[in-house]
Amino acid sequence: MASRGGPFTLVALCLFELALHGAAAPLVPAVFVFGDSMVDVGNNNYIEKCKVGCRADYPHFGVDYPGQAPTGRFSNGYNLADQLAQLLGFAESPPPFLSLPNASLIPQMSTGINFASGGSGLNDSTGNGPVCRHVLSLTEQVGNFTNLVRLWKSENQTAAGRVSESLFFISTGSNDLFEYIDFKAPKNRNDTEFLQQLVAFYSDHLKGLYGAGARRFSVLSPSLVGCCPSQRLIAHKRKDVDKYGCLGAANTLSNQLYPMIASMLHGLSLELPGMNYSLADSIRMAEFIFNNTHTPAYNFTVLDWACCGSGKFGAGGCDASARLCNNRDKYLFWDDYHPSNAATEVAAKEIFGDPGIFVHPINVQQLVEPRPQRMII
Ligand SMILES: *[C@@H]1O[C@H](CO)[C@@H](O)[C@H](O)[C@H]1NC(C)=O
Ligand SMILES: *[C@@H]1O[C@H](CO)[C@@H](O)[C@H](O)[C@H]1NC(C)=O
Ligand SMILES: *[C@@H]1O[C@H](CO)[C@@H](O)[C@H](O)[C@H]1NC(C)=O
Ligand SMILES: *[C@@H]1O[C@H](CO)[C@@H](O)[C@H](O)[C@H]1NC(C)=O
Ligand SMILES: *[C@@H]1O[C@H](CO)[C@@H](O)[C@H](O)[C@H]1NC(C)=O
Ligand SMILES: *[C@@H]1O[C@H](CO)[C@@H](O)[C@H](O)[C@H]1NC(C)=O
Ligand SMILES: *[C@@H]1O[C@H](CO)[C@@H](O)[C@H](O)[C@H]1NC(C)=O
Ligand SMILES: *[C@@H]1O[C@H](CO)[C@@H](O)[C@H](O)[C@H]1NC(C)=O
Repeated sequence: MASRGGPFTLVALCLFELALHGAAAPLVPAVFVFGDSMVDVGNNNYIEKCKVGCRADYPHFGVDYPGQAPTGRFSNGYNLADQLAQLLGFAESPPPFLSLPNASLIPQMSTGINFASGGSGLNDSTGNGPVCRHVLSLTEQVGNFTNLVRLWKSENQTAAGRVSESLFFISTGSNDLFEYIDFKAPKNRNDTEFLQQLVAFYSDHLKGLYGAGARRFSVLSPSLVGCCPSQRLIAHKRKDVDKYGCLGAANTLSNQLYPMIASMLHGLSLELPGMNYSLADSIRMAEFIFNNTHTPAYNFTVLDWACCGSGKFGAGGCDASARLCNNRDKYLFWDDYHPSNAATEVAAKEIFGDPGIFVHPINVQQLVEPRPQRMII
């Protein structure tokens, strides 16, 4: 009850003011998206070796997307990349890199490309093992982007210069944690060393993008990865259940990783001239939802079960034969690993307009509009 009129209401007010001003032209020339299945809009459809569990181009995926199309988004509708792009004034995420014919690549750079690949992580080997067999690693994603910038510059230096004003949206790290928890026996682990290596990889990827001209980074931290339905099932099997009913070992890693990413980003912003960032603390966002179930900005009533999926927690994976819930906006999770359209809509609004509670040190609106804001909070 104490949460009524909480931070989400403040965000709603900020967005309302934005609507009054009317956002006709997009706030940035282009959006470039990197990372994993939170933001993949179909790259994996084009990777032959990518297996069923690592792609989403079949029903029930997309049941709430225009035309009920299963596009490769790991969602019932839009995903986080779409919803953030929408708040910036675009129709949805830019198209998947692998969907573009050679002749369209450079022209498409002026409004953005989505390089994200479900299953990928900070480590190049993540996703390229037993789980997904083959995905676009973050190194490949950054490499492909860098190549395109180089070609674009040789065609039109002025146009390519606008990369610095564009938004770079990145969601990565969760799959590294999943694979570590799944495959590495506890006695062979040194968690601190593992997380330090992940953050070092992260720093290298960001420096790669910076080297190609990126300046404005919106980074989504891995959330409480132990809380997705697949991990809740494991939590019960392993008898490692935390206070949210989630896999304790996984959430402990998430909680340790967040401050390390925060300090890495802060360090980079001091080291790299003109580099600015906005870091979304998706751990605290998830906690807020678990701690405050009935909040007017959203009304999630099912926080543990997947909307699409069979078996306990609906953790058996989503496909056309799986159970599909009716009231999809009431579910925090769409499938065994991914949030629902409704959940990512709430997250996108936070990433864009949060007044300093879940997004640090500035939100995406402030990142892309450096002039003073008129916030009514
Ligand atoms: C398109 O293909 C040609 C020939 O393979 C290659 O030289 C060129 O770099 C490609 N363009 C892009 C944007 O990749
Ligand atoms: C993208 O990266 C992959 C792997 O490095 C490479 O094989 C491919 O040619 C690249 N494509 C472009 C257009 O740069
Ligand atoms: C280069 O791009 C700029 C900005 O998009 C455009 O105004 C200009 O006409 C382009 N120049 C060439 C030679 O295409
Ligand atoms: C784990 O790794 C850290 C960082 O490399 C190191 O300082 C620490 O001694 C290691 N712990 C164990 C138990 O090996
Ligand atoms: C990254 O992947 C390689 C190859 O699988 C593995 O040896 C290494 O331990 C991994 N590093 C981390 C931090 O997971
Ligand atoms: C971006 O970083 C520069 C320093 O690199 C700083 O002067 C500027 O104020 C920052 N912009 C925003 C919007 O925080
Ligand atoms: C949620 O509640 C827990 C106590 O159960 C508290 O430690 C945590 O800070 C709360 N998080 C948020 C974001 O409200
Ligand atoms: C949540 O429920 C309340 C009370 O029924 C309602 O006023 C509010 O509009 C609902 N919010 C959403 C996002 O559906």
